[in-house]
Amino acid sequence: MKTKITELFGIDHPIILSGMSWISTPELVAAVSNAGGLGILATGVTSAEETLEYIKRTRELTDKPFAGNVTLYFPGADRNAQILIEHRVPVINYSLGKGDKISKAVHEYGGKVVATVTTLKHALAAQRDGADALIVTGHEAAGHGGMVTSLALIPSIVDAVEIPVIAAGGFADGRGLMAALSLGAEGVSMGTRFMNSVESPVHDSQKKISSEKDVYDTVYTDRIDGLPARMMDTGGARKIMNRRLNPFTALFNSRKIAGLLGFPWLKLAVGIMFSGYKRSIQMARMAIGFEAFKVGTMNGDNKKGVLPLGQITGIIKDTPTVKEIIDRTIEQAGEVKKNLNSMG
Ligand SMILES: Cc1cc2nc3c(=O)[nH]c(=O)nc-3n(C[C@H](O)[C@H](O)[C@H](O)COP(=O)(O)O)c2cc1C
Repeated sequence: MKTKITELFGIDHPIILSGMSWISTPELVAAVSNAGGLGILATGVTSAEETLEYIKRTRELTDKPFAGNVTLYFPGADRNAQILIEHRVPVINYSLGKGDKISKAVHEYGGKVVATVTTLKHALAAQRDGADALIVTGHEAAGHGGMVTSLALIPSIVDAVEIPVIAAGGFADGRGLMAALSLGAEGVSMGTRFMNSVESPVHDSQKKISSEKDVYDTVYTDRIDGLPARMMDTGGARKIMNRRLNPFTALFNSRKIAGLLGFPWLKLAVGIMFSGYKRSIQMARMAIGFEAFKVGTMNGDNKKGVLPLGQITGIIKDTPTVKEIIDRTIEQAGEVKKNLNSMG
């Protein structure tokens, strides 16, 4: 299937693997790119050494285009962006920050830039800053989706920008792909669907549990990592949401973030001290959120940990290979198209 984004990235199918921390690893990224989609390598929680190692390993596993993601709000993101750029990763995907410098540097080596946004304001800013495409993430999404549902958000942004839009949040099969194309998007980015695949490194128990969950079984809150995000509704998530915090918790927890990201703790601690009360609380939540997402994702612990999960988990009932997911998405999209055509 050809669309503006298959042309832009040089891929076969308009299907993208979202950059999910701890999950979008070289093995999963390469599986998606080898099956004709575009895998996005997550560097949200990788140290400089790990980022470099991720790029090398991905290149060993695929000769197809792939992307690297940076969440600019996270400590260490500038450093990871620099590494991705130095190693000329074909597509750079950024979110939660200003991307003008990234766009300029990536275009200098002929790479492409995709900004992930959840609002029209940020979509217009990313276009102005030189992004080649947007991933527009609706309310249904796992992790940091917007306040507005995909059905309303995507066409509203498609109408307002000139660059191609990739729809994210609530897409998991061929029906979703055709719906996204009908809304004016040029493809889909899927997180929850690929998280539950054979090649995904998420703990096996989470694949099974999320397959049993329904569309109602998630919560959307800013009380886990300080930003509005969606995750599986569990005892662990509820416990963290109810926790009271103060700026000292931020300082205490910043050690964990710094350790996790290989980032100088003193620099982070000073940053927190001078960031004001509200931002300190947010940093405290980020520290707790990082740890909770890690434990939920890698250990399958739903008491201390939390698993980001989209509402579309309700239609996901199995754990296929990445190739099976992509092939059947394309096949089902073809059937949907035929059915629509036959309606006259
Ligand atoms: C387990 C999991 C972990 C995720 N981690 C991140 C992350 O670290 N950074 C990020 O920007 N988005 C993260 N996301 C969100 C995805 O990038 C994407 O926006 C979302 O999954 C798309 O919606 P969908 O889940 O309905 O497909 C994560 C999603 C899942 C399922």
